[in-house]
Amino acid sequence: MQVYDIITKKKRNIPLTSGEIEWLVKSYTDGEISDAQMTAFLMAVYFNSMTDEETSAMTMAMAKSGDMLDLSEIAEITVDKHSSGGVGDKTTLVIVPIVASCGVAVPKMSGRGLGMTGGTIDKLESVPGFRTAVEYDEFKEIVKKTGCAVVGQTGHLTPADKKIYALRDVTATVDSIPLIAASIMSKKLAMGDKNIVLDVKCGSGAFMKTPDEAQKLADTMVRIAENNNRNCVALVTDMNKPLGRAVGNSLEVIEAIETLRDKEKGEFYDLCIELSANMLSLAGKGSVDACRQLAVEAVSSGRALGKLREMIEAQGGNPDVVDDYTLFKQAEYSYDILAENDGVIKNVDCEEIGRVSLLLGAGREVKDAPIDHSAGVYFYKLCGENVLKGERIATLYTDKKENIDNIITRFRQAYPILSDEN
Ligand code: URA
Repeated sequence: MQVYDIITKKKRNIPLTSGEIEWLVKSYTDGEISDAQMTAFLMAVYFNSMTDEETSAMTMAMAKSGDMLDLSEIAEITVDKHSSGGVGDKTTLVIVPIVASCGVAVPKMSGRGLGMTGGTIDKLESVPGFRTAVEYDEFKEIVKKTGCAVVGQTGHLTPADKKIYALRDVTATVDSIPLIAASIMSKKLAMGDKNIVLDVKCGSGAFMKTPDEAQKLADTMVRIAENNNRNCVALVTDMNKPLGRAVGNSLEVIEAIETLRDKEKGEFYDLCIELSANMLSLAGKGSVDACRQLAVEAVSSGRALGKLREMIEAQGGNPDVVDDYTLFKQAEYSYDILAENDGVIKNVDCEEIGRVSLLLGAGREVKDAPIDHSAGVYFYKLCGENVLKGERIATLYTDKKENIDNIITRFRQAYPILSDEN
């Protein structure tokens, strides 16, 4: 086979065979195809998309490029949730303990943040001592003992996705529906997940900007799961504004704890209950309605918060953070943002809020760059709320002093207070 011919076919929108796609993925992973040629292929996919058969072949080729795990050796029934990535998305920290405290095992592997999106692994590493680099055998033992664990990818999983994702990241080919679907689902198939809830984010802070695109991505991923005998449901959820009150690692962990303490009600709490209910239902605990009730009770009874404590301790973290937030690293500086006029918070630029948080130190521009776990934004006033001149709308946390005026200006532009006339 010739990579040149495969690129040419894709460029001319002629469907590729499964054999051609498998060969391409394997050859690139093995270093036999250059980045330049793979980039040409990815860009052709970006413009011409892929058929369902091509997307499935790409997903399977990437899944099989490394180990294929079998989670049934951990528990008879397990369930996973995957979000397509957003700003302030800390749902995993809330739903994993809720679902585990309802008796369904959640062995979860998560990723790190890149660019404007945060990663669950970075958030959890803000808990002093918390270990996310855990070998597969220990991961299994922790889940067997506590019912859940959240770790970074263990072993040799989907090396093809790692290599292709890194290339997409620098060649502007991330936001392609078949490529995102194949990337996410290859990891789910390799991890052996049998029951999967997908949270497909839609809006200015997500890869999918419109409901149509997000629904298409959701449908593509569900079809891949079903064709591989997995149970899967996908929810399309809003990412036109940051999720909840906090953006930034320890700030988000604290918000998750407050939510599990039943103190934070609102859209973020509602989404956590909805995702948990769908996970529990997929795992056979009853209808989504009945499972919604189970999830609500897991929070109001304090069982889910207890489960989070247990999980933190099992992974080497200090469980006292749940009751004492001063145990988290504290930012050197905090800047209160006060309203400059009366009005309502509207037309928020979610992607820009993600960038502001990154500039404060909470995210990374390039892979493996260090991050400041205490940096980020906390919102006192949420999108859609009325505010009066002088009221505190948010606080920015950082260890940096340089460039802060520019960051504050960018924040104000991204989080505008519009008066009645606007
Ligand atoms: N998350 C992934 O794992 N892969 C993508 O391509 C996009 C989001």
